[in-house]
Amino acid sequence: MMPSEAEIRDFTACITELVQLWSCISIQALDTVPLLRILPNPSLQRLLQVVEKRDAFVRAQIQRHQESLEPERPRDVVDHLLLAMGDLGPKRLHMALVDLFIGGTETTAALLAWACAFLVRHPEVQDRIHAELQDVLGPTAPLRPRDRDRLPLLSATLNETLRLRPPVPLALPHRTTRPTSVAGMSIPQDTIVIPNLFAAHHDETKWLEPEEFRPERFLAPGALRDLLPFSCGARACPGEALARAEALVTLGRLLREFRLEPAVLGTLPALNVVSFGIVLRCPSLCLRLVPRPRAPPPARGHTLVTPLPGVMTPLPGELP
Ligand code: HEM
Repeated sequence: MMPSEAEIRDFTACITELVQLWSCISIQALDTVPLLRILPNPSLQRLLQVVEKRDAFVRAQIQRHQESLEPERPRDVVDHLLLAMGDLGPKRLHMALVDLFIGGTETTAALLAWACAFLVRHPEVQDRIHAELQDVLGPTAPLRPRDRDRLPLLSATLNETLRLRPPVPLALPHRTTRPTSVAGMSIPQDTIVIPNLFAAHHDETKWLEPEEFRPERFLAPGALRDLLPFSCGARACPGEALARAEALVTLGRLLREFRLEPAVLGTLPALNVVSFGIVLRCPSLCLRLVPRPRAPPPARGHTLVTPLPGVMTPLPGELP
């Protein structure tokens, strides 16, 4: 049920432009001062055109799936959502897919790009993650999301990247529906609240040397308490588990097979924050992927781990 390659390319360009437009100051200002909508705004005009293009793509996907749906054999997430549509309704189905396409693509891509940029600057961390992957998975076992707890340094590296460069640095704007307070500060009803996750992650009262890339800080118990890249509360990101799973498997597979080096030796990727749009994108990154030598597979009939020094243990059911 995949769209054609041309459609995917077109849609990717559409999403990229949409996220760029959302980042424009003239669009962001509308979140805080909605009245500005009455003024002429070319970026807003363009945004509405791109949103129409996005919606046409989503409508086409839904129609194509509806026409060939076999209820006993759902093929993908669109089929599953169509089957659940009784509860959802067509408008919600449409927007659920929009959320999936937009919330779930640029954000995770930004996380992975930033992680690569930091790791190129820290080859020693790459080597340690590679060693961790070898120790835990050996040369051939697949890397799965459920391996996360067995790969503490890889997980810590993703957390440290999420801390230093949260892909959605200002979360999403919220409006208070009644008077409330945060940390003792009163907030009247109908106030637009924009949580600054980036600032929270760089707060010197919470983080030791917050500008430094130090994955080890997340190896300590309780270190996750102040990390909020997916925000918190009732409207926190619903895609956290998916994003974490995708990032762990993609980065882990990359580091298992390759060493990441700058495309031009001696130059290092930029880590500066270029714009503070809806998604905090990494400046363009050009890398060399240098294949790591493959460790020889274990001799048949023997494990790699020896219970006593020098003693090789046969695998169950195999001859020594
Ligand atoms: C590294 C990846 C991601 C990060 C850092 C991230 C972060 C965030 C943040 C900070 C918010 C705003 C929460 C708030 O305003 O309180 C959010 C909202 C949201 N995210 Fe994510 N996200 C990521 C990936 C995903 C994925 C993979 C999906 C879906 C498949 C997704 C779907 C959504 C949706 C639908 C919302 C709006 C929720 C609402 O308004 O109630 N996100 N995300």
